Amino acid sequence: MSLQEDLAAVQAQALVEVSAVTDTEALERWRVAYLGRQGTLTLLLRRVGELPQEERREAGASANQARVLLEGRLEEELARISALETERRLAAEIIDVTLPGRPLPRGRLHPTTRTIRDITAVFTALGFQVVEGPEVEWDYYNFEALNIPPGHPARDMWNTLWTDYRDADGNQPMLLRTHTSPMQVRVMQERQPPIRVVVPGRCYRYEATDATHESIFHQIEGLAVDEGITFANLKGTLYEFARRLFGQERRIRFRCDYFPFVEPGVDMSIDCFRCQGAGCAICSQTGWIEIMGAGMVHPEVLRRVGYDPARYTGFAFGLGPERIAMLKYGIEDIRLFYANDLRFLEQF
Ligand code: DAH
Repeated sequence: MSLQEDLAAVQAQALVEVSAVTDTEALERWRVAYLGRQGTLTLLLRRVGELPQEERREAGASANQARVLLEGRLEEELARISALETERRLAAEIIDVTLPGRPLPRGRLHPTTRTIRDITAVFTALGFQVVEGPEVEWDYYNFEALNIPPGHPARDMWNTLWTDYRDADGNQPMLLRTHTSPMQVRVMQERQPPIRVVVPGRCYRYEATDATHESIFHQIEGLAVDEGITFANLKGTLYEFARRLFGQERRIRFRCDYFPFVEPGVDMSIDCFRCQGAGCAICSQTGWIEIMGAGMVHPEVLRRVGYDPARYTGFAFGLGPERIAMLKYGIEDIRLFYANDLRFLEQF
């Protein structure tokens, strides 16, 4: 066969093969097979030089033509195939932008935090300021300054957790505060009347825990001290609080109670918001629900911080936000607040 015939055959073969190629890898194999250094066409081109002088010109022209033709096809195929591959990839990677996004888990406030905010919001609207104090407290503030000296039987009302830490004299121990009432003393020491503060915060007690007792819990303390404050101010303020938190139709009831740092001391109840006072499980069939302790600040407490009880009087109160939350949301076990159980927490 002449070189011309070989060229024609190789060219025809190459053109048939390339039209069956559908991906870039096969196209590259095709290129190597015909146009590569050992490619069929390349080898034919080399043979042109071996031809006798008179045939060389014509054969050279044909060979070059074949090369140009195949290189041209290579370019075309490359463009066609890469467009095809892009199309295929896009089809495989298709994103439906109309699908809804994956939901992100949304955080929420702990029911205790929420209740504390609800309660303090009522008091700030009534002119009280929110302050906070230490959870690890001196015996002096937790007990002594509140008329509960060492050995006083009233200490039995607050079983606490003591630390080994003592003051510089080695006498006074530190403890985990059993209530927020020590902040009454700290605030009065730092300021002069008029004082109107509420103090939310964590408290601790040495408890055999059950559905209504937990060794970690919160309280909100309230204190108002000024000239001319009377029990009527206490009643009016706490009545307004009860109505804003539990509904405008609430009624309230005060009964005498004993707390060493107030005189007189009371406990305050609201009529049951579930049965409207008729008697149900929530109010233990009494029609009333106790929500806080309160009273007029004891003159001894005022005197101890350097206030003249003849000039200044005040009222104080303390309540437990977990207890309020239990009432409001129908929670039956206070231990749920600290169990970190999402099945519980996600309900709020
Ligand atoms: N601190 C008291 C307790 O933990 C609650 C209390 C009662 C606070 C009467 C007061 C108050 O401020 O006046 O049981």
